[in-house]
Amino acid sequence: MIKKNKNILNHVAIIMDGNGRWAQRRNKSRIYGHKKGVKAVLKAINFSLCNKLNVLTLYAFSSENWRRPIQEILSLIKLFICTLSSKIEFIYNNNICLKVIGNLNQLDLKFKNLILYSENLTKSNTGLQLNIAINYGGRWDIVKVIKRIVYLIQIGLLNPNEINENTVSSLISLNHLPPVDLLIRTGGEYRLSNFLLWQIAYTEFYFTNILWPDFDDKVFKIAIDAYFCRKRNFGGL
Ligand code: FPP
Repeated sequence: MIKKNKNILNHVAIIMDGNGRWAQRRNKSRIYGHKKGVKAVLKAINFSLCNKLNVLTLYAFSSENWRRPIQEILSLIKLFICTLSSKIEFIYNNNICLKVIGNLNQLDLKFKNLILYSENLTKSNTGLQLNIAINYGGRWDIVKVIKRIVYLIQIGLLNPNEINENTVSSLISLNHLPPVDLLIRTGGEYRLSNFLLWQIAYTEFYFTNILWPDFDDKVFKIAIDAYFCRKRNFGGL
């Protein structure tokens, strides 16, 4: 947890955008940009460890990213598998608890098994909680909750009259974690792209033109400093 003035920072989420443009500006392939993006991911994790942030949630692949050319999708999945396989020891040794959010059922079996193995290996770690959103969509997350609620009603474990916001919050992804305090989006776009819709009702947003491969400690710190200048009322005065 990072604390300054009256604000507490437990949970940062990041929409990592701009890998493709970063590469194109250098006349390189988009996947070259994604590879550089991995280095920025590692920097963000290290920064979070050094600053004792509790939770870091990264948007790596949205449920809409399947619309990209097949070659880019395959290269991205290969990159995820290589990165996770080569960094799992680092993740474990640094007491990081890894969780992947998203629809794993649509993923290649080898990839899914690697994710499940990594989550299981690190589940008792007590340091940084690292969430990676893969094949994730905020609307998918909400639909998943609705289906669960219908099921709980059908088997008689939930009374429809008792459904409230807490019911949804308790079933949505990241339910066991503190709320997202700060959402950073790189790449100069001002949109959410179907990320964590329910979870960010009172989140502070920070948008930067920096392209994701250029994201470093300095940019992370500027975003956090901006967060600590915000007055958070949560609807009150
Ligand atoms: C958005 O940039 C980035 C992605 C869709 C992929 C994010 C992946 C990484 C940062 C690398 C690996 C991550 C992990 C967790 C190992 P874009 O391609 O949409 O960029 P553009 O808007 O410039 O085209």
